[in-house]
Amino acid sequence: MASIESVMQEGRRFRPPESFRARAKLKDAADYERLYRQSLDDPEGFWGAVANELHWFKPWERVLEWEEPFVKWFVGGQTNLSYNCLDLQVERGRGDKKAILWEGEPGDTRTYTYRELLAEVSKLANTLKGLGVGKGDKVAIYLPMIPQAVIAMLACARIGAVHSVVFGGFSSAALADRVNDARAKVIITADGGYRRGSVFALKPLVDEALERCESVEHVIVVRRGENDVQMQPGRDRWYHELIESASDVCPAEPMDAEDPLFILYTSGSTGKPKGVLHTTGGYQTYTYLTVKYIFDLRDDDLYWCPADVGWITGHSYIVYGPLLNGVTQLMYEGVPTHPAPDRHWEMVARYGVTIYYYAPTAIRAFMKAGEEYPKKHDLSSLRLLGTVGEPINPEAWMWYHRVIGGERCPIVDTWWQTETGGIMITTLPGVHDTKPGSAGKPFFGVDAAVMDLEGNEQEAGSGGYLVIKRPWPSMLRTVYGDDDRYRAQYWSEIPHVYFAGDGARRDDEGYFWIMGRVDDVVNVSGHRLGTAEIESALVSHPAVAEAAVVGRPDEVKGQAIVAFVTLEGKREGSEALYQELRAHVTKEIGAIARPDDIRFADALPKTRSGKIMRRLLRNIAAGEEASGDISTLEDKGVVEKLLRPGVSR
Ligand code: PRX
Repeated sequence: MASIESVMQEGRRFRPPESFRARAKLKDAADYERLYRQSLDDPEGFWGAVANELHWFKPWERVLEWEEPFVKWFVGGQTNLSYNCLDLQVERGRGDKKAILWEGEPGDTRTYTYRELLAEVSKLANTLKGLGVGKGDKVAIYLPMIPQAVIAMLACARIGAVHSVVFGGFSSAALADRVNDARAKVIITADGGYRRGSVFALKPLVDEALERCESVEHVIVVRRGENDVQMQPGRDRWYHELIESASDVCPAEPMDAEDPLFILYTSGSTGKPKGVLHTTGGYQTYTYLTVKYIFDLRDDDLYWCPADVGWITGHSYIVYGPLLNGVTQLMYEGVPTHPAPDRHWEMVARYGVTIYYYAPTAIRAFMKAGEEYPKKHDLSSLRLLGTVGEPINPEAWMWYHRVIGGERCPIVDTWWQTETGGIMITTLPGVHDTKPGSAGKPFFGVDAAVMDLEGNEQEAGSGGYLVIKRPWPSMLRTVYGDDDRYRAQYWSEIPHVYFAGDGARRDDEGYFWIMGRVDDVVNVSGHRLGTAEIESALVSHPAVAEAAVVGRPDEVKGQAIVAFVTLEGKREGSEALYQELRAHVTKEIGAIARPDDIRFADALPKTRSGKIMRRLLRNIAAGEEASGDISTLEDKGVVEKLLRPGVSR
């Protein structure tokens, strides 16, 4: 809460630097206002014109069909995202332009021009077809940050297969859940990848997952880590062997605008992660436009978003959005701190990166490591910085602005979600003043508001729930296989608006200040996790009777995970059990969900109706006074015990 208060008192603001503004695509508030108005007054005209900047096999009949909560964009039109990312760029004279400059963690490099990328994608697309993968089939992608991750996504899009990328840091159990939910036919993986100087294995995790997955017929394995792997005859094939004989020509399949493009799983407040479904025409139009204006792209830019393709940021702002704009981008396999905390800055200087877009948690970690690391390098090529994934505290913003941006780079603080597909709230770098801690204004077509639960718009300055009042092109279409959950989760909390799950307030200039999740979702180092998922992982351990997981503010990670656990029978908490439970959660979900703190308790504080009092646990975890109304608490002694030292591990 302290950080929210400090944000509310934040008064600093920064004008777009004149040097930036002079060359920006949009440079006046009036430009923004005019386009924004037009996008809301005439969405069909506005988005139709944008969509026409890309290639369509067949024009649409209607731009928009809205029957709450289901939307269709570009109805009747046919297009292909892989075509627009590759063939169209070659047609526009970018065949020899570099699309990807890739660097592995050990320092090995590879580059692809647009023409080369098209050939690689076509080879894999033909290979997939040869394995019987067609339109509508699901392909799981479980890879390190190597070029094949991008190639695999584009190959699926090329033939109309639906990809489901699973972050390489997820466990085999999490992979199996996702593969089963989507009923994936093929998995594209690697032997392993590099992380912090050593190889982490992926293929053995796939083998383990596949003991539980019946839908998978083929596993394609990229050789990267050179670690030993078992190849199951008939099922597992090496990527390099498969593509050797494949043709590098594969015409892109005309896809209906509303054909599914991908499923990406994300955490909600209840149950298992949900498969967010995105489709083709609206998603490409929106990601294309957001990159164009928010990153103010120029043909000579070198863009770098060091996120992972396993998250929506990687989908929209490494793969699709940048390639749709014909950009040259840097891609890096490893961690920012290997071999030293200046790896990113050394790369920015060596390659001449101009646009850098990353998460606040990383900025806070860089800040902690010390400014001597960036200071060692010439960062003058940078002209624009961005952040994504969580609120940025003004202190980290100021550090980013001063130390990385040399006070000359605008910062775009972009608010959006897996579900929104693209950036929704941000400043435009040549237009808007920035205010540290505020994401800024709604992007074109985004009708954002702050409401109470009854759907009343809140006055400027008052807090409430962030909602979007009408559909936008890259909106999720449903929760895969579960329309009811889609409706209940996003269109029912407040009548007739999209409920984002975040708290926010809008100031008197229309800037949004995002205050974090209002549900049981925690944001740990920019990774979104449901507390219910972690709880269910904990209670699947035989020693655990009950578990309640909450977030605690953390200087670097944003939030840290604290678990309150009661044990079966007469078991006692111990250091050994603490380690065992952490390892158990890692196995069930992945290291990103591992609790930072486990408190063994005799009982959990519950209301008389048996609900765990999470707010109270959040206070306790944060070391704050137990605030608020605890009059409904069933047994006040429970809280006293939890507050007493010694109940922790
Ligand atoms: O709470 C918001 C936070 O991240 C959530 C979405 O997480 P995910 O679907 O994993 O997507 C992250 C990458 C887009 C949101 O509900 N969030 C995202 N961006 C911001 C943010 N919170 C504050 N400021 C942001 N710029």
